[in-house]
Amino acid sequence: MHLTSLCGNRLLKDVTVLLMIFCLISVFLRNRDWSRSSAQPPCPSRFNGFSFLMRPAIRCDNSGPFLVLLVTSSSGRFQTRLAIRRTWGIERLVGGARSVTYFLLGHGRQRQHFILREGALHQDIIQRDFEDTYHNMTLKVLLGLQWLCCSCPSVSFVMKTDSDMFVNTDYLIKLLSRHPHRRNLLTGIIMKGFGPVRENSSKWYISKDEYPRDKYPPYCSGTGFVLSTDLACRMWEVSEKAQKIKIEDVYVGLCLAVLEVEPMKIHSQQVFCSHKVPFSICTYRQLITSHWVRDYEKLLFWRGLQDSDDEKCRGEP
Ligand SMILES: *[C@@H]1O[C@H](CO)[C@@H](O)[C@H](O)[C@H]1NC(C)=O
Ligand SMILES: *[C@@H]1O[C@H](CO)[C@@H](O)[C@H](O)[C@H]1NC(C)=O
Repeated sequence: MHLTSLCGNRLLKDVTVLLMIFCLISVFLRNRDWSRSSAQPPCPSRFNGFSFLMRPAIRCDNSGPFLVLLVTSSSGRFQTRLAIRRTWGIERLVGGARSVTYFLLGHGRQRQHFILREGALHQDIIQRDFEDTYHNMTLKVLLGLQWLCCSCPSVSFVMKTDSDMFVNTDYLIKLLSRHPHRRNLLTGIIMKGFGPVRENSSKWYISKDEYPRDKYPPYCSGTGFVLSTDLACRMWEVSEKAQKIKIEDVYVGLCLAVLEVEPMKIHSQQVFCSHKVPFSICTYRQLITSHWVRDYEKLLFWRGLQDSDDEKCRGEP
């Protein structure tokens, strides 16, 4: 009786000691992970309580991609995301420079269950718990910046674009690769001298309370703009100081005004387009964006570009 209870106690003690060792080891390992990730740039949240619903398993270690495309998308657009994944959003490698695409989403409401499955499958959805409305677009852009600067800071460039766009990813990588400014770059369709729409029926209506001045600082159209990652992350750092405004591209301009940086052209021609450019192989080879491109057109245009390597266009070597 005495012996068994002693053995029992002994066993209990052994188990306790083992458990304690196990806990210590796991705490040590967890702390090690934690200190490693905190070696990255500081990542304060600007989201007052909107938590991450989903983030990709990192594909962005030290050998991070050259270019990350962040596409704002709304939860119901499953087909569009599929079309983008099969066309311009597919992982590209051009002259050794890699591009990867992620989608920015707000809360999926009744579709959230499907979105979780989609994200688990493709590992390309970045999502936070805010309402997925047009006027929360600025939050989406901040979400993209936070993810980039905290999880993927070794990337060289980041593009923000929308899901109704066509992007010639290969040409963009080519232009960025030979561009002399790897730092402090914001490029796209440069909007200069524009001011707030005061017509209260407009989608872009901004009241005097929201923005009292008559002119916006220069910015780039939200249909597609590119930032060097250093600038994107400096922007993330000052984003608290800039005035919050619900129009996301103007908001980027306001942040850049705090940093005293102005957008610049990447090409003497207008290679970013905010209208729908009629498709031809030779025009699309030399542009970066075209707007209002439907899903089936994305597939057609992309195939057209991919299958026409031996076709010569005027002015090409
Ligand atoms: C943005 O999302 C928040 C959180 O879901 C919501 O309360 C707010 O109404 C949304 N704002 C707009 C302008 O849609
Ligand atoms: C819009 O503006 C007009 C006149 O400027 C005003 O009468 C109307 O109440 C406004 N509507 C809203 C929804 O604020």
